[in-house]
Amino acid sequence: MKDSTFDRQSQLKAFDETKGGVKGLVDTKITQVPQIFIQPPDEFAVAKDGYYDLPVINLHGFNSDPVQRKEIINEIEEASMRWGFFQVINHEIPVSVLREMRDGALRFFNQDHEVKKEWYVTDSTKKIFYNSNVDLSSTLPVRWRDSFHCRMAPDPPNPIELPPPCRDILIEYSKQVTKLGCSLFELISEALGLTSSYLKDIGCADGLATICHYYPASPQPELTIGARKHADNDFLTVLLQDHIGGLQFLHQNHWVNVPFVPGALVVNIGDLLQLISNDKFISAEHRVVSSNIGPRVSVACFFTTGTVTTGKIFEPIKELLSDENPAKYRATTMKEYVQHSHSKVFDKSSMLHFRI
Ligand code: OGA
Ligand code: NI
Repeated sequence: MKDSTFDRQSQLKAFDETKGGVKGLVDTKITQVPQIFIQPPDEFAVAKDGYYDLPVINLHGFNSDPVQRKEIINEIEEASMRWGFFQVINHEIPVSVLREMRDGALRFFNQDHEVKKEWYVTDSTKKIFYNSNVDLSSTLPVRWRDSFHCRMAPDPPNPIELPPPCRDILIEYSKQVTKLGCSLFELISEALGLTSSYLKDIGCADGLATICHYYPASPQPELTIGARKHADNDFLTVLLQDHIGGLQFLHQNHWVNVPFVPGALVVNIGDLLQLISNDKFISAEHRVVSSNIGPRVSVACFFTTGTVTTGKIFEPIKELLSDENPAKYRATTMKEYVQHSHSKVFDKSSMLHFRI
C-alpha cells in the first residue's frame, strides 16, 4: 500500500534540502508542478473586475489642509469598515524608492544559489532569513513563492547583517514606510474618533517586519497558489505589489482583485486592529493567485512586533465601548496573538480564540 503521508514528507524534505526555494525549481525548467504544491479547488468565485470598486485614497494634503484631512479620514473609515483594504496614492514615498525596492527584492532572489542559500532557514527566530514557507508538519499545499524576511523594528538589524543587493533600499524603504505607517495610524485613530496619537501611543507602530516575496511564473497556475487564504496577524500592512497583480481579498464570499495602480501602495487592516477596534474595522482574508507570467515581486511591511516580547497588553479600546457595544474580545499580548495565529496557519478563525 502506498503511504502518501510518507511520500509527502520525503518530498517536502527533499525540496527543503535544496535551499533553492520555488525559484530553484522553476530554474530547472520543470513543466509539471510537484505534488506538494497542488491545491484543491477553491470554494469562492472571483468577482468580475469593476463589480466591487476598491477605493484608491488620495492622501494629498492630509497634513496641510484640514478640509482634505477630514475627507481622507472619512474615506479611510469607510474603507476600513467595509473592505478592510484600500490603496493610497500621494503617500509621499517617491516612485523611485518604490521602484528601487522592487528591484532590490528581485536582486536578492536573483543572487547565485550558493550565495542565497546561506540565508535559507525554515523555522527560525532569526531577524533576517529567506525560505519557501515550508511547513513540514502541515498538510496544506506549499505556497508557490519564496520569501525574504527582515525584522526592522524594534531592535533594528546592524546594516552589515543585511544582504548587499538590497541593503540600502531595505533600510530606506522601511524608514519611509514607518513614517507613512505613523501617518496612517494617526488618520485611523481619528477615523475611530480617538485623538490622533492614540494608536501610536499604545504601541501599534513599535514593530516593523519587511518581507519581500518572489512569486515565480507557474507552469500550471490553476494548480498552485502564491499565498493561501489568510488574514494578517498584525495591526496594519502596507504592501507594494508590481504590475503582474494576483492579490485578491475576500468580500461577501467573492474574491476581489486588488488591481495594480502605478505608484500606489495597498493598505490592509490586520487582526489586531480589528480586535482593538472591537470589530469596527475588519481584517479581510486574502490570497495571491499564481500566474503563468512572472516573476511577481511584492514587498509587505507588517506593523507588528511579532513574537518579540514587549509586555504591552492589547484589548478593545475602552473609549469605543458602551453598554450597546460591549467588548467582544479579551485582552492579549502581541506575542500570544501571533503564536496562536501561527498555530492556526494564519487562519482568520484564530481570532475566535480571543472572543468573549
Ligand atoms: C502577506 C500577503 C500579499 C502579496 O505577505 O501577508 O498577503 O501580494 N502578501 O504578496
Ligand atoms: Ni497577507
